[in-house]
Amino acid sequence: MLISATLNAAINSQIREELGNSSQYLAIASYFDCEGLKLLAKIYYTQSAEEREHAMRFVKFVIDSGGKVEIPAVPAPRNDFRSAEDAAQLALDSEIRTTEQIYDLMTLAIGEKNYIATNALQWFINEQLEEVSSAQARLAVIKRSGPNVLMVEAYLAHGGG
Ligand SMILES: [Fe+2]
Ligand SMILES: [Fe+2]
Repeated sequence: MLISATLNAAINSQIREELGNSSQYLAIASYFDCEGLKLLAKIYYTQSAEEREHAMRFVKFVIDSGGKVEIPAVPAPRNDFRSAEDAAQLALDSEIRTTEQIYDLMTLAIGEKNYIATNALQWFINEQLEEVSSAQARLAVIKRSGPNVLMVEAYLAHGGG
């Protein structure tokens, strides 16, 4: 067994967070899809799938380490958004919160001298840089479009990320 009960429990909680983020991105994608903003929707559907992969990566880590996976109940996401900016801000806020959670897991793993876990968690830390920076960039573009979100669709259609 390569994982303590404490770290095992903390990772099971993080599985809930990752699945929750997947649901939240699905809610955001659906919102944009309903608004006819297909390219924005596509970005968030992809994000939703990525969050599920993050959860799966934690599941595999617990199993490989000889721990016990407990799939938690996932809280409902927010389904109402005032605007594209509101949705993109929520996405950024959840990525920042997730980064803090991954840091906490890393702190725990370092404290336990669990270097297999720190190595696995390093992947998530690198991923969070990507996630936060793309969420920030997306929010900035949406803010720049002002009230005309179709400008964002045009930007995305022309290869902007
Ligand atoms: Fe994630
Ligand atoms: Fe993420």
